Formats: sequence, C-alpha cells, structure tokens
Amino acid sequence: MVSWSHLVSLLGVVSAQSNVSSTYTNPILPTGADPWVTRYGDYYYMTYTTNTNITILRSTTLTDWNDADAKLAFNPPAGYNYSTDLWAPELHNIAGKWYIIFTGDPSSDSPPPETDMLCDFNCPAVNHRMYVLEGSTSDPWTGNYTMKAQLNTFDQFAIDGTYFQHSTGLYHIYSCWFSAYQSWPSNLCITKMSSPWIVESNVTERQILSVPSNPWERTPYGRMQNDRLSSNEGPEQLTNPKTGQQFIIYSAARSDNRNYCLGQLELVGDDPMNNQDWKKNNEGCVFYQNALENAYGVGHASFTTSPDSTEDWIVYHGMEDPYTGWSARNIRAQKFTWNVDGTPKFPRPGYGPYPVPAGQNASMKSFV
Ligand SMILES: *[C@@H]1O[C@H](CO)[C@@H](O)[C@H](O)[C@H]1NC(C)=O
Ligand SMILES: *[C@@H]1O[C@H](CO)[C@@H](O)[C@H](O)[C@H]1NC(C)=O
Ligand SMILES: *[C@@H]1O[C@H](CO)[C@@H](O)[C@H](O)[C@H]1NC(C)=O
Ligand SMILES: *[C@@H]1O[C@H](CO)[C@@H](O)[C@H](O)[C@H]1NC(C)=O
Ligand SMILES: *[C@@H]1O[C@H](CO)[C@@H](O)[C@H](O)[C@H]1NC(C)=O
Ligand SMILES: *[C@@H]1O[C@H](CO)[C@@H](O)[C@H](O)[C@H]1NC(C)=O
Repeated sequence: MVSWSHLVSLLGVVSAQSNVSSTYTNPILPTGADPWVTRYGDYYYMTYTTNTNITILRSTTLTDWNDADAKLAFNPPAGYNYSTDLWAPELHNIAGKWYIIFTGDPSSDSPPPETDMLCDFNCPAVNHRMYVLEGSTSDPWTGNYTMKAQLNTFDQFAIDGTYFQHSTGLYHIYSCWFSAYQSWPSNLCITKMSSPWIVESNVTERQILSVPSNPWERTPYGRMQNDRLSSNEGPEQLTNPKTGQQFIIYSAARSDNRNYCLGQLELVGDDPMNNQDWKKNNEGCVFYQNALENAYGVGHASFTTSPDSTEDWIVYHGMEDPYTGWSARNIRAQKFTWNVDGTPKFPRPGYGPYPVPAGQNASMKSFV
C-alpha cells in the first residue's frame, strides 16, 4: 500500500521534472543588459554589455544561459577611444562574415572639463562612438575578432548602433544628438553604408528618423521644461517573416527606471533614408512595464526564433526592483506573435513559467 505522503512526493517529482523540461522562468541570465541574441547552426549566441570587454555566450537553449560556454571576443587595449564603457555589442552575419558592432568611450564617460563645459547639459557620454570588429571565420565562435574601423558619425555622440539590411543596401541606425554638444534629446539617426564598416552618407545626408516627442518617450513622463533624459535608443531591425514588413523596434525614455519601454517605427515606403517613408507608432509603447508582475524598465530588445523556426522570440532586459537603477537589470526572453495588420504583438513582460521555445531539446538539462 502506498502512503499519501509517498504518493504526493512521487507526484511532486514527476511534476517538477515535467515543469523543468517543458517550461522556463525569467530571467534567463541573472545579471546583464542590452542583450543581443542570434541563432546560428545548433546554437544560440548572446552578447551584452559588460562595460569592460566583449564576451560571447553560446548555448543550445534560448532559455537558460547559466552554464553557457563563454568566449572573450574582444578585450580592448588601454588608451584608445574605445577602451572603456563598451556598450550594446551586437553580432551580425553580413554576406557570410561576422561583425561585432559596439559603442565605446575613451575615458569611462568622464569627459575633460573643457569638453563638458561645451555641452547644454551634463554630458558624460559625449565621446561615445561606434566601432566594428571583424571575425576571421565563417562561424561566430571559432574566429578571432579584430578592430576593423570606427563608424563615421561625424565626430558626434553615437551609441547603440545597429545594421539595417534592406533591398536598397545596408544602413547604420543609431542613437544620436542633433549636434555635437546638445546632450539631449537622443534621437534615432540613419546613414547609408557601402560596407559593414564604411558609412557613405555625409552629415547633411544623415537623416533623423525619430525624436522622443511623445510623453512616454520623455523622463519624467511628459517632461515639459526641456529634453533632459528624453531618449530614443537601442534600435533593432525586425522583419515580419510572413509579410516582409520592416520595423525598427527601439527603446524610449530612460534606461535606469521603470518607464523604459519599446517603441515602433515601420518602413512604409521604399527608401530608408527618407524619413517620410517611416511611420512611427505615436500611440504608446508597444512593450512596457507590468507592475502586476514586478517587471519594470523593459527594453533594449533583440529578436530570434525557436529551434524549429516556427516561433518568434524577444530577448530584452528588465528590472524586478525599479528603485536601484542600472545594476538591477537582467536578461529575459518571451515568445511574441503578430497582429492581423502585420505589426508585432508583444506579450506583457513577466517571469513565467512559460512554455519553452518550440523544438527546444527537453532532454538536455532536466534528466542528467
Ligand atoms: C509545476 O507546474 C504546476 C502547474 O503549473 C505547479 O503547480 C507546480 O508548482 C510546478 N512545480 C514546480 C516545481 O515548479
Ligand atoms: C569581461 O568583463 C567582465 C565584466 O567586467 C568580467 O567579469 C570578465 O571577467 C571579463 N572577461 C575576461 C575574460 O576578462
Ligand atoms: C579620439 O576622439 C577624439 C574626440 O572625438 C578625436 O578628436 C580624436 O581624433 C580621436 N582619436 C582617434 C585616434 O580617432
Ligand atoms: C586566433 O589568433 C590566435 C593568436 O594570434 C592564433 O593562434 C589562432 O590561430 C587564431 N585563430 C583563428 C581561427 O584565426
Ligand atoms: C553631402 O553630399 C551632398 C551630395 O549628395 C552634397 O550636395 C553636400 O554638399 C554634401 N555635404 C557636405 C557637408 O559635404
Ligand atoms: C537533443 O538531445 C539529444 C541527447 O542529448 C542529442 O543527441 C540531440 O542531438 C539533441 N538535438 C538537438 C536538436 O539539439
């Protein structure tokens, strides 16, 4: 005869195992910000802001990175304009080669007083610029990454740059100021490229695609008196796989507090360099804090697919504690779908448990 307590514990073991194999919880990495994830071959690759170097993680599952392999892709030498405060690295496969695009600064965001005094507001990031590393192999893991070039942003503030691939060519989309010492707002700018490391537009051809004009793009919410802390940053290309519609999903407001969220631009014309060809969703954030689940400050997303390629997934950072600022951020993932008009339909952010991505190999971790 089986006792109740024995039966209950047996059921517990069974349900614990089945939960482990079929669901996951957020965060997928307990600390970190600005995640970039790409799927290639049998692996997911992640890179994110460490500030001091560029590290690539490799995992067979999208939803657990605690035991991922790690590779130091770039450890900057001291004394260069990209030696400190390395932010928001991204790993892109362009025409069969791998490139890491990242933001760096010469002096830990402490510009000399004679630079700082030129700025309209306190401007720690005034010397941040975009750089490109090139990988030496056709896969993202085995090669060496070496400095290829600084991206031309006309010697002005540039952070969170990404590539936008389009039938008309390659573009650099990044967070910019209107001019060298403006400090705020930060906007989204676009320039045309002739290669992954050469910008061909000049400064007058550079276009501004979005400024933080809505109340939810400003900090505090609806700030009226000036543009301090009003930002558009973290742009990422998102393509609807069924309709081909092209989006830029970007981060708005301020990354150190609960209101940070995702906004959306859609390319509705043929020319990414024509800002009239972009339609901004002015109605509000498309992905934003969920106080019911203590999920705050959600932003800086990247996009990937399930192992069987049937599902779309968003990887982003968020905070459970909305008071501490940047150090509270960690990395999360959730499935998303599409609205009938072809725009992305993001979930509410939370912690799960959620079903694992379709095709994820349940046997890998749970039964060892
Ligand atoms: C497994 O899932 C069930 C149903 O969702 C839940 O009640 C139970 O607490 C979970 N067990 C574990 C160990 O997470
Ligand atoms: C890369 O930077 C992180 C964060 O500063 C640090 O913990 C890690 O040890 C560094 N990796 C290497 C290999 O130096
Ligand atoms: C480093 O940055 C400063 C400020 O933007 C610039 O004047 C200088 O030319 C840069 N140095 C190099 C080697 O690019
Ligand atoms: C990477 O660089 C190291 C040191 O220069 C060299 O020994 C190694 O062969 C390189 N690997 C590849 C795949 O190029
Ligand atoms: C930028 O290029 C355009 C031609 O496309 C030219 O008319 C303009 O003078 C250039 N501006 C600068 C600042 O070089
Ligand atoms: C799933 O796991 C099994 C056992 O570890 C392994 O043989 C198989 O290659 C894995 N499949 C995938 C798609 O990772």
